Amino acid sequence: MLIAGNWKMFKAQAETRAFCAAFEPPDGVDVVICPPFTSLAAAVEGGLTVFAQNVHWADDGAFTGEISVAMLQELGVAGSIVGHSERRQYFGETDERTARRAAAALVAGLRVIACVGELEAEREAGQTDAVLRRQISALEPHPELVVAYEPVWAIGTGRTATPEIAQEAHAFIKSLIDVPVLYGGSVKPENAAELLAQPDVDGALVGGASLDPDSFAAICRAAL
Ligand code: 13P
Repeated sequence: MLIAGNWKMFKAQAETRAFCAAFEPPDGVDVVICPPFTSLAAAVEGGLTVFAQNVHWADDGAFTGEISVAMLQELGVAGSIVGHSERRQYFGETDERTARRAAAALVAGLRVIACVGELEAEREAGQTDAVLRRQISALEPHPELVVAYEPVWAIGTGRTATPEIAQEAHAFIKSLIDVPVLYGGSVKPENAAELLAQPDVDGALVGGASLDPDSFAAICRAAL
C-alpha cells in the first residue's frame, strides 16, 4: 500500500518542519509526502519520503518555471506526481506532456505517480472509460510507475467516489496498464478503510486531509 499526501500549494518551510515533528506514520505502509518545491528540502531533512508535484523532461534548458529530475534528486527527492488534474485544468497540461514527464523521471530513477480521472460532465455523458483509456494510453508501464485515479468531481469537494465506483474504475485502468492504482478525491480518515479494502485499490493520493499530521497518520493506519 502506498499512501501519498499531495500538499498542493500549502505549507512553506516552517510549517513543513512542524508537520514533520508531529507526524507519526505507522510501520508497514509506504508513506510519501508531496510538498511545494520550496519545501522539498525541509521535508527531506524531516526524515520523510518526499515526491515533487511536477517535473520537467529536459535535463536543463530555457524552460522558465520548470524543475528538472536532477534538481529534485540533488535534494534527496524520491519521485514526482505528473499530470495532476489541477495541472490539466488550470495550466493546460496534456496527456502527451504528462507522458514525457513520466518517462524522463522513470529513466532517471525517480518513482512516478501519474494522475488520471474524468470530469463530472464526462462521467454524466458516459465517457469515463473513453477518457481513462485516452489518458492511460499515453503511459508506458514501468516497475516504478503508479497511476492515481482521481475523478475530478471528487477532488476537494467532499464528494468521495463510492467504493464501488472506485473499484470499477481501478479494475478498468488495470485492464489497460499493469501497475498499482491509487484512489484520490476527498479521502478522509472516516472513508479511507472502506476505499482501501477494495481489491484493486492499492493506496491513496490524499489532498486536504494530508495537511494535518494526525488525520494523515489515521489514513496511513487505515492501510494496515
Ligand atoms: P482532496 O483529498 O483534497 O480531495 O484532493 C485530492 C487530490 O487532488 C490529491 O492529489
